[in-house]
Amino acid sequence: RRTDVVIIGAGPAGMLLGHMLRQAGLACIVVERQSRAHVESRIRAGVLESVTTDLLRSLGIAERLDAEGLIEEGFNLATDDRTIRIDVKALTGRHVTVYGQTEVTRDLIEAAEPRGLPVLFDASDVAIHDIDGDAPVVTCRHAGEEVRIEARFVAGCDGFHGPSRKAVGAGPEFERAYPFGWLGILADVPPCHPELIYANTADGFALASMRSPTRSRYYIQVPLTERVEDWPEARLWDELDRRFAPLADGPVVRGPALEMSIAPLRSYVFETMRRGSLFLAGDAAHIVPPTGAKGLNLAASDVVYLGEALIAALKHGDTRGIDGYQARALARVWKAERFSWSLTRLMHRFPEDGAFEHRMQRAELDYVAESTAMQTAIAENYVGLPV
Ligand code: FAD
Ligand code: DHB
Repeated sequence: RRTDVVIIGAGPAGMLLGHMLRQAGLACIVVERQSRAHVESRIRAGVLESVTTDLLRSLGIAERLDAEGLIEEGFNLATDDRTIRIDVKALTGRHVTVYGQTEVTRDLIEAAEPRGLPVLFDASDVAIHDIDGDAPVVTCRHAGEEVRIEARFVAGCDGFHGPSRKAVGAGPEFERAYPFGWLGILADVPPCHPELIYANTADGFALASMRSPTRSRYYIQVPLTERVEDWPEARLWDELDRRFAPLADGPVVRGPALEMSIAPLRSYVFETMRRGSLFLAGDAAHIVPPTGAKGLNLAASDVVYLGEALIAALKHGDTRGIDGYQARALARVWKAERFSWSLTRLMHRFPEDGAFEHRMQRAELDYVAESTAMQTAIAENYVGLPV
């Protein structure tokens, strides 16, 4: 088979890029290792910046987003004894939208076939060849057959564990692992508070989030040694109630878990986002800790840059965009890395911290509470820096 661009990975990065290229009349094929059901059921991010919602609207895939997405004009940073509301709307004139990654992915996959965007699910042994020339090839096994796709470019949108970053080879990389993870629960119960609460409590970080007025998403900080099996649902609800009942307006409403999982926290940047005809976007090139909800939104901003660049190169022979892609993307990536890292530092209990570090956290939160300048800095990062 022949196409303009082979996209590896049908997560948000790959599907957004595929639709962007199709909208410009280019041909592309998405190759995905997992099944459609698996991709559509992964519970991950929940908060969208306007970079992501604007992209979905420009693609004409925002009907459900506009009907069901919750507009969030503020959020809260809390400690045991006080809550600081960050009035995002008043400070920036903008807002974020609560709409699950699961829904984004479902909408993008549903729109794919009608728009001539083939997605090969359940593809195994995906391999990338000849990236240093201008005729790269992707091979895989799909539906019992060996598939060989010739293209002009390959987009590696295959997440942190995919083959694309490895195909780039050695390059400068930067990493910070955190000594804890987030234990998350999704349940059909009303949220404990109308806006998100990020809390730094004596027992550790906790986040109260939501997917809709009837569906809640909560996370708590847990040591990396914990396993989900150690957490019967009642134990987690008890813990959430302890951390949030004083901050919210009453007890946390309990219900059966639709999903529970533990995710480790990591900061990571692989700076070589292009080698020859292969480009990396999203988690394939960088990971942020989830504090601040930047992961999915950063995948979307990469795609805006990469989509524009590939369209200019393929339709007009203008290669300035693809040559500048890495520098342009990394400039925004590093600022999101900084924000996610600093909010993680501010809101978690690090096991190695002593009294001095706790006083530093408290002093910074005191300063945030009193300073409009500090609140503005947090708000403008939270809604998303300019693309
Ligand atoms: P992905 O969504 O990872 O998509 C990559 C795709 O490539 C996947 O579908 C994968 O199956 C496919 N793939 C992998 N290997 C191959 C292969 N060999 N061949 C073909 N396809 C392949 N962000 C937040 O902001 N908030 C959160 O609460 C949050 N929670 C998260 C929880 C977990 C467990 C994880 C892993 C991430 C979480 N994130 C969160 C981050 C956010 O979900 C990601 O930043 C976002 O999914 C990035 O999108 P992506 O398309 O770049 O990568
Ligand atoms: C959610 C996840 C985040 O990482 C975050 O910062 C806010 C919300 C969520 O899953 O709802």
